[in-house]
Amino acid sequence: MRTPIIAGNWKMHKNVGESLETARQLEERVKDSSVEVVICAPFTSLAALSALGLSKVKLGAQNMYFQDQGAFTGEISAGMLLDVGCEYVVLGHSERRQIFQEDDELVNKKVVKALETGLKPILCVGETLEERRAGQTEDVVVSQTKRGLAGVAADQLANVVIAYEPVWAIGTGENCDAEDANQVIGRIRGTLAELYGSELAEQVRIQYGGSVKPGNIKEFMEQPEIDGALVGGASLDADSFTAIVQY
Ligand code: 13P
Repeated sequence: MRTPIIAGNWKMHKNVGESLETARQLEERVKDSSVEVVICAPFTSLAALSALGLSKVKLGAQNMYFQDQGAFTGEISAGMLLDVGCEYVVLGHSERRQIFQEDDELVNKKVVKALETGLKPILCVGETLEERRAGQTEDVVVSQTKRGLAGVAADQLANVVIAYEPVWAIGTGENCDAEDANQVIGRIRGTLAELYGSELAEQVRIQYGGSVKPGNIKEFMEQPEIDGALVGGASLDADSFTAIVQY
């Protein structure tokens, strides 16, 4: 059985004080949940969140660079994220791919480095509206999955989380149909089985992301292939994120 994982991606929201307040409320409300709960906070809040010593709510970052250290102005390494208590790091989010021109090759270097350093990557894949309309959804996610995981060893795979986030569903209020998402996620798992064998593929958690709300989380979690959610807007408020965790 895969333990469901519900992660909040706060994106570029919340200063330190706001982060601490939301995290404290969340910890209190979800402490008895059997679901794994993660908040992916801005870099500037991570050290303070770590110092709270939360036990239920785990920490993640939203990006990192693949080098260990050096002259890379503005970048953050995997080791720095571990140092401030991160267990997870979101990589290849569509906002990174689209706004900051990250390609599969760069995302892959980050995934490999994260695993080597001891962080668990949440690798995001997903098609644009144009690609969906052209019937390319499965080709796109299969390709992003294969390229994103190039060089990842079989014994590292269980530490990878994949998030299927159709780009057109992010922040739009228009979520993907749960059965459609289940089918695409099944295809991603099939790709993992091709690469690593079905036994290992069955261990990988694959989330859905894109306009997940308290009102639709249950539909997604009822699907056999969907192991959790990556939640943007609805994770900013402790009440709505708690309702999602307690689907
Ligand atoms: P929304 O939940 O706001 O659609 O964002 C999804 C997302 O991008 C999570 O990474």
